[in-house]
Amino acid sequence: MSADLAIPARSLPVSARAPGKCIVFGEHAVVRGAPELSLAIDLHTQVVVAPSDVLRLNGDAAAVAENPYLEPSLAAARGRSGAIDVRSVSRLPRAAGLGSSAAFVAALGAALGAAEGGIERAALAQRCFEVERAAQGVGSPGDTTTSVGGGYVALNAGAGAGPLLWTIAAGTERWEVRRAPDPGWVWVVAYSGIRRSTAEAVRAVTARLERPDGPALLARFAEVARAGIAAVAAGDREAAGRQMVANQELLREVGVSHPRLEALLEAAAPAALGAKLTGAGRGGSIVVLPVPGREVELVRRLARAGAVPFPVRAAPGVTLVEPGAETAPTEAR
Ligand code: PMV
Repeated sequence: MSADLAIPARSLPVSARAPGKCIVFGEHAVVRGAPELSLAIDLHTQVVVAPSDVLRLNGDAAAVAENPYLEPSLAAARGRSGAIDVRSVSRLPRAAGLGSSAAFVAALGAALGAAEGGIERAALAQRCFEVERAAQGVGSPGDTTTSVGGGYVALNAGAGAGPLLWTIAAGTERWEVRRAPDPGWVWVVAYSGIRRSTAEAVRAVTARLERPDGPALLARFAEVARAGIAAVAAGDREAAGRQMVANQELLREVGVSHPRLEALLEAAAPAALGAKLTGAGRGGSIVVLPVPGREVELVRRLARAGAVPFPVRAAPGVTLVEPGAETAPTEAR
């Protein structure tokens, strides 16, 4: 295969690292084809895949059965033997709405793709989506595509949102993925400490959107996301903040907020231009757009309210970690 593949050919051991994500606009509605804006964040999962006599995860053969992504990832990477040793470390809290499973799938997919002879990003994004969807049973390609693509990514947002990166397909469903411009902003995500299941939240919202007012609600989600995407592209923080607040009202209406999330949104408010839950909701995390210059105050407010806050900015998509580079800082700060 050609040497300029996004994920180049490597022989084992291979290490790869993939970013988590935060959804700025459009979670849930994206599953039904509405626009979404998400960004890859500079909190990563790193995997190392090495030859082995048996399949192991973090040194433990029994842990393989408990991980719903490992064996499907191997099956998707045609030609790999099942016996490998996978080690994974992450700064992403799990089941927190920050894309920890997508980052694991993307990092593992890139490492296995490299061992297969290299893989294009579009093919990797499709493969990672299939692995995650098979495990969760429901959902959009938003998380996996953002981890593979990096930066700001818009789904189903039309040609005005930016150049086409790729289209993800599942049966008759299609999601168009575009590269949205990076305004260079710092966001603050804050984990509530409440773990929840994405699949359950998605099923509950699906049922809600099947009620008679569902189409009208979905149209409002789409309108808010479109306006929000335009505001971020224009670098208009105030307008972006207003659309985040409008998006949160809709998320509340479909029943995926949580009293802890509402308390965090309230704690953030004095230092925020806008804030909302991010990801599936019912727990998990919030994302806040800080008032410029009040980032430290915002982090302090969220920590005092009992959350785990992370200032984040856009990060590149999944990459291989070349030998010797593991400890070197690879991101511009
Ligand atoms: O799994 P989470 O919490 O990162 O969020 C998934 C976002 C949803 O729109 C709720 C589901 C999906 O697959 O797009």
